[in-house]
Amino acid sequence: MDKKRGSFSGKLGFVLAAAGSAVGLGNLWRFPYLAAKHGGGIFILIYLILAVTLGFTLMITEVSIGRKTGLSAAGAFHKLDKRFGFVGYLACVVPFIITPYYCVIGGWVIKYLIAFVTGQVEAAAGDDYFTTFISEAAQPVLWFAIFVLLTAIVVILGVEKGVEKASTILMPILVLLTIGIAIYSITRPGAGEGLRYYLLPSMEHFSATTVLAAMGQLFYSMSLAMGIMITYGSYMKKDTPLRNSVRQIELFDTVIAILAGLMIVPAVFAFSGGNEEALNKGPSLMFITLPKVFDSMTFGSVIGAVFFLLVLFAALTSAISLLETNVSMVRDKLGLSRKKTTLIVTIYVLIVGSLVSLGFGPLDFVQIIGMGLLDFCDFVSNSVLMPIVAILTCVCMGFFVKPHVIIEEVETNGDFKEKKFYTVMLKWVAPICLILILIFAVSEALGFVTV
Ligand code: PHE
Repeated sequence: MDKKRGSFSGKLGFVLAAAGSAVGLGNLWRFPYLAAKHGGGIFILIYLILAVTLGFTLMITEVSIGRKTGLSAAGAFHKLDKRFGFVGYLACVVPFIITPYYCVIGGWVIKYLIAFVTGQVEAAAGDDYFTTFISEAAQPVLWFAIFVLLTAIVVILGVEKGVEKASTILMPILVLLTIGIAIYSITRPGAGEGLRYYLLPSMEHFSATTVLAAMGQLFYSMSLAMGIMITYGSYMKKDTPLRNSVRQIELFDTVIAILAGLMIVPAVFAFSGGNEEALNKGPSLMFITLPKVFDSMTFGSVIGAVFFLLVLFAALTSAISLLETNVSMVRDKLGLSRKKTTLIVTIYVLIVGSLVSLGFGPLDFVQIIGMGLLDFCDFVSNSVLMPIVAILTCVCMGFFVKPHVIIEEVETNGDFKEKKFYTVMLKWVAPICLILILIFAVSEALGFVTV
């Protein structure tokens, strides 16, 4: 067990570090492509509703569990109620699935950074640049490995030094740059229609899949249902106002995601001449659209380079929190040193991530229930395991440990205005919605229903 648990220095330390975990590729890369694919405005509307209800409920629950027990997920559930110890383990499985493929995307970001730094903007803006790159074998794996090593180095340095300091410096710059690029994007000719698509909800695009996608994204983006916020809560001091901190993290995370979409989605319209097909690009959207935006700017190569550097940074802080969770989990179990554990986990990430990366090239014949390797990992973690962990967390805290435990923890510092609403959400609304969504996700994947 981690005897000497580091702690964050005060309120800002926690908010920034947790925001560092939350804000990452989920906001900048995943949110825009999902919003583009799932109907724009309607996706955003559903996402916002889920964020202030489900997201808030789960995040405040997790952070409180962590702070109350002072343990990471595996130990925390066990301490609260022995029968629910397995939920902690289940939660810990999720980062093991996400870390490898997250780092694969991190590698893509490094590749683009280098392309911009070396002045290959025009090439990067070309239509086939991205597809050619990811379908190669060696290159993507190489960039991926570099990303993993960067992450591992920070994790070896420890919580305080690594995560907290890193999070405080570059995040605000990223926000400003994103706003600047978003303004540029929406003022391009032809972007107006994209802006309308992105911001105005239209019922004609609504379907159960939209809700499912928005929910999976919510978990992913806010680092929920995988033990991360529990671990972060365990580092949180008792005198840090819990509720307000959670609200701030959520707000920050959501604003960045919406800004990222503003930067990308209208640009898709502007640069594809309004071709609807372009909205369906999936994981490649950011890498295909943004270089076109930068290529059309006056100082595009410099702005692009700075932008990808900051994205890389945001991705690193998230990857650090993922790896950190894996490491603390293995460490709590095996009692090895931090260095050794990090080494073991890094080797695991390198192996699995390489396979995922090759899934776009030599291994593209590997299809599991109709999905490539990256999409399959993403589906198992976001659409299956996270809802299960979230349901069990609600049931455990709502009916066995009881909501008052969380409410008291929140009230040790500051008030908990929405505690009645919270109790109803935790016990009834959240688990029922989650169960419905889970059933839908699985039946859709297995082909029982088609939408
Ligand atoms: N929330 C992070 C993001 O939005 C991704 C992440 C997922 C980080 C899971 C940690 C754990 O990019």
